[in-house]
Amino acid sequence: MNLEDASQYINALYENRGVNKKKYVESTDLKKFGSIIDEDVSRMLQLIIQLTHPENILEIGTSIGYSTVSMAHAIKDYNGKITTIESDEVVARQAIKNFQERGLAEFIQVKIGDAEEIIPQIQEKFDIIFQDVGDKKLYPILLDDCLRILKPGGLLLAEDTLFPVMFKSKEHEEDFIKPIHKFNENIANNPNLESTILSIGDGLTIAYKKER
Ligand SMILES: C[S@@+](CC[C@H](N)C(=O)[O-])C[C@H]1O[C@@H](n2cnc3c(N)ncnc32)[C@H](O)[C@@H]1O
Repeated sequence: MNLEDASQYINALYENRGVNKKKYVESTDLKKFGSIIDEDVSRMLQLIIQLTHPENILEIGTSIGYSTVSMAHAIKDYNGKITTIESDEVVARQAIKNFQERGLAEFIQVKIGDAEEIIPQIQEKFDIIFQDVGDKKLYPILLDDCLRILKPGGLLLAEDTLFPVMFKSKEHEEDFIKPIHKFNENIANNPNLESTILSIGDGLTIAYKKER
């Protein structure tokens, strides 16, 4: 089966469901921003939230807020809360505008700053952490702290975890391939996590922190 054909087929079936990525980008004034998740990942995030009803979600890497809005639509029915971290102030301000225009701002707290500085300071615990930070070197660096602030029974989700398969050239070795592979190995070998990687988007890790 050709994965590209499968993805097109699925996207056509679900064209009128969820948050339309093309319309979201078109309605956003800012045109230069970090890449955003695909619609299949948006639907998966919504589905996971509808299944698990997390009270408290942490997102690392907001960009213009497409994934945040996708999740906010799923949590607003039961008054859940999302905290999202973005280091680029211009992009973060655009995300906040997008949340306000969609009536979702009350469910979302935006922290503007470097996730590498912010996350070690966090004491609050989360039911879901969605790792999508642009600097992929931070994936393995922040992993222990993410697991520290993830509740037992919580889910760590991470986008772009198939980068080691997608990028083969030497120029991506240090920025993409090595750090994501290290992150993937650490997750796969952690006895306190049950996990897998779905081949949607650029690879979506789902890791469940066992209750003990
Ligand atoms: C892939 S984009 C996030 C996309 C977003 N989750 C979505 O799908 O709508 C990654 C974002 O991480 C931000 N970023 C990069 N390094 C960061 C850091 N050290 N701390 C916080 N944010 C960072 C980038 O500015 C970029 O907007």
